[in-house]
Order: sequence, then structure tokens, then C-alpha cells
Amino acid sequence: MTTGSSTARMRPMSAPDITARKRALRDGDGAPLVMVTAYDAPSARVVDAAGADMILVGDSLAMVVLGYDDTLQVTTDDMVHHVGAVARVRPRPLIVGDLPWLSYHVSREETVRNAAALVRAGAGAVKLEGGRKRLDAVGAILDAEIPVMGHLGLTPQSIHALGGFRVQGKQLDSARRIVDDAVALAEAGCFAVVLECVPDGVARMVTDAIAIPTIGIGAGRHCDGQVLVYHDILGLEDRNLPKFVRRYADLRGIATAAVGQFVEDVRSGTFPSSEETYHMTDQMGEAFDLYSEPSAVAVPPAG
Ligand code: KIV
Repeated sequence: MTTGSSTARMRPMSAPDITARKRALRDGDGAPLVMVTAYDAPSARVVDAAGADMILVGDSLAMVVLGYDDTLQVTTDDMVHHVGAVARVRPRPLIVGDLPWLSYHVSREETVRNAAALVRAGAGAVKLEGGRKRLDAVGAILDAEIPVMGHLGLTPQSIHALGGFRVQGKQLDSARRIVDDAVALAEAGCFAVVLECVPDGVARMVTDAIAIPTIGIGAGRHCDGQVLVYHDILGLEDRNLPKFVRRYADLRGIATAAVGQFVEDVRSGTFPSSEETYHMTDQMGEAFDLYSEPSAVAVPPAG
């Protein structure tokens, strides 16, 4: 691709590119897909430089960035704000914008407008939670030419209905429901589906049953790809992590130590040093009489 600059940029990944990877995986060709969440320009730059295939601007934004206890608090406007920040980096991975709770539950028209808002902010696809119940929303968004990623298993926007953050599909009927929902989403035209917190056997049945990639989180290794939350990978949070998270760094510890050292340096007078300071010329110092004895500044009496 010609950019007009000396650095040629690679073409960004598209939803069809992601679906095509399933065919390659089935032929025993290619590596599993990788999706990582990001919510702003710095995290998007890191995920892009690390070589992920997709950036999910997830509604986990609510919990890991905005300090809420669940994902139900974020709005389409919040998501647009953060998708925009990620998109301005112009990353190579496909940007998937999460449709927040209630943005696709009210009417087809509202659903399409909300999905379009994420696309106008820079997303190349949107994600929504739920199976057959959401086929109308999926169809409406696809009719507007916007690729849709599904999300089954533990769907955090349903925590009140599910009774909490729990592994799903542990019983025969719920496992069957997840497989049937996945088949329905794939037949409706979704380009990929996230499987969250389901037993590995259920993930395997889904992966075998559908022609689009399954992206697992807490769903074991029989998926076509994996996703984790950026803050969990980096150890930026001190919340209790579910067992499926592998933490690759302790950035919270590193950041706390670094900021703590700054606090210490300011208090002990070792920051800023002479090298970290802009100095006035001697000539100007003399003109302002800065080097003579301190002048008697009138200090108002205490009290
Ligand atoms: O919002 C999010 O981060 C997600 C992932 C957990 C898949 O939906």
C-alpha cells in the first residue's frame, strides 16, 4: 500500500480476513487468532506493536478503566469516545467495538444507529452478546453492512439474569443451548464468536460445529483464537483474577514503585536536579539581582 510517506503501512485486518483464518486453521495452516482489549491510544499502540489480529474495545472499559463494578454502566457515547481514541492510532488489527447493554435491545433502528456510531468512530466491526434471542439485532446490523461478532457463554451484560459471573454450559441442556446459539449466529452471518467461561468440551463442540472462528476467554484451548483483557495481561489491576487469566507482567507494582520514587525524590529535594532544570543566563540573573543575599520580603504576621 502506498501511503505517500516513507513508511509503508500494512493494510488493516478486516472481518473477512478473520473468517478466512478459520478455513486456514481447518486445513492445518496458520496460528490461532489473537484478540486483546484496548481502550485508548497508548494501549492500542502496544497491542498493535505486539502483533495481535484484533483489538476489542470492550465494554470491560466500565470495570478496568472507569471504575464501575460491572459492565452495565457504559453507554454508546462512552464506547464511541474510546473507539475513537484507539482508531486514531490507525492500528493494523481489526478494531471491534463492543455494543453496550441496552444499545441493541430496544429497536432495530436504535441498534443500527448505535452500531453505526461505533463504525463512524473507527470500528471495523461490532460485538454483541447473546444467541438466538439477538438474531433480529444481528440481522439489522448486517443489513447496514456492518460485520458482527457474537458473544456466548458468560455474557456479562446479563449478570443479573445469570445470577453472577459464573461458568456457563455445565449442564447438558445449557451446553446444547450454547452450541445451538453459535450455529444460529454463524448461519445469520456473524464473522466470529467469543466464547466466555464455558467448559473446554463445550468450546470444542462449538468450534467443530461452525464455519466461523471461535475466540475463547476461559473456554480452554479448543478455540480458533483467544482473547484477554489488556489490564489483566499486564497486571495493571489488583482485583481478584479469574483462573483463566495468565498475567505476563506486574505493571501495577512497577508503576507504584516508580511513582513512589518520584514522591520520595520531591520530598527529599533530589528532584529536580540541575540537569532537569532550564537555567537563566548569568547575565539575566545579575540583571534581576538574583544572586545577592535574599531580599527582606515582607511576610504577613501569622494569625
Ligand atoms: O468487554 C470485554 O472485554 C469482552 C471480552 C471479555 C471478550 O467482552
